[in-house]
Amino acid sequence: MFESKSGILLIGGLGFFLFAFLSNALVPILLYQHLPEQTVEQLVEDNQNLIYQFEDLSLRYPEQFKKYYDKPDTKNLARALRLGRDIYVGEGCWHCHSQFVRPVSNESVRWGKVASSDEYQNELQRPVMWGTRRVGPDLSREGGRRGNDWHAVHFFDPHSVSPGSPMPRYPWFYDDKDPAKPNERGIAIITYIQWLGSWLEEYPFYEDYVPLQEQMQNPLE
Ligand code: HEC
Repeated sequence: MFESKSGILLIGGLGFFLFAFLSNALVPILLYQHLPEQTVEQLVEDNQNLIYQFEDLSLRYPEQFKKYYDKPDTKNLARALRLGRDIYVGEGCWHCHSQFVRPVSNESVRWGKVASSDEYQNELQRPVMWGTRRVGPDLSREGGRRGNDWHAVHFFDPHSVSPGSPMPRYPWFYDDKDPAKPNERGIAIITYIQWLGSWLEEYPFYEDYVPLQEQMQNPLE
């Protein structure tokens, strides 16, 4: 068998298959056996950064929010996140955006903390949204970098805030051809984007968080 070329190829092929199985299946299973996969409900629970953003959306777009999500509680937040993730997959955002800060090329200087495997141990990363290439920036630390209104305008017409952008327009995220009227899908995709990196201490809104109740009492603060 080892005398013939095809014999060597066969053994080599089986060897690589076994190696791939070990490195891609067995090692991750062993690495994560103590860490259960988180559901969306667990992800939103006590995630003050994300709750802040969802409440902000309800204040910023009161009529649209009421129409599609009723109130900004964690149940509706979980629903928006699931839908946002489905839209991210369905619209092919992952063709142009990665969700993975690599430990090479000083990527952490530009994007923030290098990605760690436990960040992907949840329902919204099934399958993982690492993406295929970067036409646009990595999004895994995008949450909190921009305000909700910036995203609303950007998804409506990327050129208006980023001249020359090759990112397509998404008019079907809005009612009435107006960026001030994000619909169920628009609110969902913005919520999903604000979720990205919201589990990190570096999340920009972390220290500024003011619960909705207090915002309503002191509207000028
Ligand atoms: C054809 C490639 C392409 C597609 C498809 C695409 N984007 Fe982009 N995106 C870009 C590029 C390039 C930029 C940088 C220029 C800009 O701001 O528009 C960008 C910017 C962004 C930003 C702003 C990043 C920042 O803070 O500067 C977000 C958020 C974003 N995209 C989300 C999405 C989502 C969500 C989808 C799917 C609904 C999507 N993109 C689809 C190419 C794309």
